[in-house]
Amino acid sequence: MALLRAVAVALLALCLLGQSPRAEAPRLADTFWGEFARMAVAADHPDASAAGAEILARGGNAADAAAATMLALGVANPASSGLGGGGFALYYRASDGSLTFLDFRERAPAAARPDMYDEVAAPMEGPANAASQLGGLATGVPGEPAGIAELVRRFGSLPLAQIAAPAVRLAERGVVVTPALAHLSRVFGPQMRRDPLMRTWFGGEEALAVGTRLRQPQLARTLRALGSRGADAIYRGRIARAIVRANREAGGVLTLADLRDYRVVERAPLRGHHFGFEWVTAPPPSAGGFTLLQSLAVLERIDERWRPTADGPPSAAFLHALAESWKGPFLDRERYFGDPDHVALPLEAMMAPQRLQARADAFHPALAMPPEDYDRPLGPSAAVLQSDNAGTSHLCVVDAEGNVAAVTTTVNLPFGARYTAAGIVMNDEMDDFARAVGEANAFGLVGGAPNLPGPGKRPVSTMSPTLVLHEGAPLLCLGASGGSRIVTATEQVALYHLLFGMSAAQAVQAPRIHHQGHPNELRTEEVQPLDAERLGALTARGHIHEPIHNVANVQLVRIHAGQGRRLVAVSDPRKGGRPAGR
Ligand code: GLY
Repeated sequence: MALLRAVAVALLALCLLGQSPRAEAPRLADTFWGEFARMAVAADHPDASAAGAEILARGGNAADAAAATMLALGVANPASSGLGGGGFALYYRASDGSLTFLDFRERAPAAARPDMYDEVAAPMEGPANAASQLGGLATGVPGEPAGIAELVRRFGSLPLAQIAAPAVRLAERGVVVTPALAHLSRVFGPQMRRDPLMRTWFGGEEALAVGTRLRQPQLARTLRALGSRGADAIYRGRIARAIVRANREAGGVLTLADLRDYRVVERAPLRGHHFGFEWVTAPPPSAGGFTLLQSLAVLERIDERWRPTADGPPSAAFLHALAESWKGPFLDRERYFGDPDHVALPLEAMMAPQRLQARADAFHPALAMPPEDYDRPLGPSAAVLQSDNAGTSHLCVVDAEGNVAAVTTTVNLPFGARYTAAGIVMNDEMDDFARAVGEANAFGLVGGAPNLPGPGKRPVSTMSPTLVLHEGAPLLCLGASGGSRIVTATEQVALYHLLFGMSAAQAVQAPRIHHQGHPNELRTEEVQPLDAERLGALTARGHIHEPIHNVANVQLVRIHAGQGRRLVAVSDPRKGGRPAGR
């Protein structure tokens, strides 16, 4: 009898934890990729993948786990994302095959004006120090708390307090400082030390010390508040007042009304059929999804120029075609893109088949054309009207039911605007607006009139959470961090896998290129250099070569459905993440 009672108590305890008695504990992959049978999380920090996998193991679904991963990412890598930022989520619900896109991007405060950065001096010396990149004027109204709450409200199954628990634990126990975090803290140290909280992270040293623990008790309290009271805990009351106070002290114009009025927007994702697959991706205010679909459409039209070489590793002919296919959409972005709720964005005209064909016709297989040769300005009827009134992280979650979450989240540049409130690192997303027409932002992206700041506007983004479907079922979940390179990296990895027979891990690891029209430079990676033969074949075509450290960081889950279901999850080795699952 005593034995029976002991077994019953043990079973009850397991049920309370939401675990079945036979459930295996989730495991972290040994390396940057791993194979799992039931569920997987690919984030760019091992602690964040583990947080998501823990929530899955406790009975949560992909929405719960994505929310837990986002919260943990904000703790584990405050340089890239967190409650002070915003992002986009693309969610596939297996029960009805629905695809939902949630826009929880930051929006400009009500006091924002198109000329708000004219003649405003840089707040201080150092890197990324324009007024749109550093200090209070750089900060848009954060969307992350509302985005997390909305994702869970719409699709989740667990209480927010349970979802926030792994992040709270991480903030209290501390995260181990990685070399990447230490490096960024050295680069931005003098600016960060102006903030009273960030100053305490340094302990009088030049940079955060690799291997030490960064504890964030203030952030733990804020996360607990979010867990118990939902997004209102951030947008109203004590924490809201702390955010406004810190923003004002840093020279900003944020108000309590700005925070109270923040809303998540549901948008129809962009969809296109290319190379035998359906691509579902981010709509405006992201220009990323548009760039992806335009590029794929042009690549298909010039297929015979590079396809014959598609049986080995991606050939120079293919890389050339890719680079050329990006020039047109990046020009469109400069000229036409803005917040679709505030400007008339002629998406249909931009995607018109004749226009795509004209771009394909401008392609030359042996010559890199000037970006302007791909320019196809739209007629005056499609003129864009300014109404009355431009550090990131990507994660993928797949759960046992087949639900899929693709989320890209950001505070923009490393450590956002480099000040904090209530333990939260505040974003500098205002730099994704055009500071002035024709001026380039931190990613070299030139902004046009439609993307000037204005009250309540959302800046144009490149974030591109993407699902690739085959016969209606998700095959790939992927996306990236890395500013303007987000979309070019996302597209390359998908095509390397789908067209060139590379495994998911090989596709993420392979060298990548980037071209964004302006500047007219073909970027390759220092960390993963292109071999001399292919590089030579590209420069011989006239591409101006410019190496950069790396071309974005891609997270991906490849879903092998059916009998013997397998999930191959990959966290880009360029950023040091590891996936988790079981
Ligand atoms: N802040 C990076 C992006 O939204 O594209």
